[in-house]
Amino acid sequence: MAIDRRRAAVVAVALLAAACGGDSSGPATGEELARDLGCLACHTEEDTSVAPTWRGLFGSTVELDDGSTVVADEEYIRRSIVDPHAEIVAGYRATMPQFTLDDEELDLLVQYIRELGG
Ligand code: HEC
Repeated sequence: MAIDRRRAAVVAVALLAAACGGDSSGPATGEELARDLGCLACHTEEDTSVAPTWRGLFGSTVELDDGSTVVADEEYIRRSIVDPHAEIVAGYRATMPQFTLDDEELDLLVQYIRELGG
């Protein structure tokens, strides 16, 4: 699967960077990771029919398709990534693929989404 190959490349680059030990090369940023993993193909600067935007998501109240609401805290965002079909945002379908990421990658993504504000 293309995504797996890209993931492998991201991990390889991260390992290389770690092996070199230079601060300048550091780990990938959340934005780079989101681009490399293909998240940004669906999640753009604005809500689209494909996926909701991350801009303004953090700390906001999200309406789910079962009529309930949830506050988009760090827990919710992590859950949305590792188990995307557990809660579906109202108006969207369960088209998001499930990602298996390590803690460091998840932290970077959550941090990036947090930076996009709420
Ligand atoms: C194929 C398109 C697609 C890709 C690729 C994708 N998503 Fe999603 N994502 C969606 C859709 C559609 C939803 C809304 C439905 C749902 O809740 O699952 C969503 C919901 C989310 C939410 C909750 C948003 C909200 O408004 O509450 C987060 C956070 C999220 N995705 C993160 C990610 C991350 C991080 C990646 C990459 C690792 C990713 N997504 C890749 C389609 C995608």
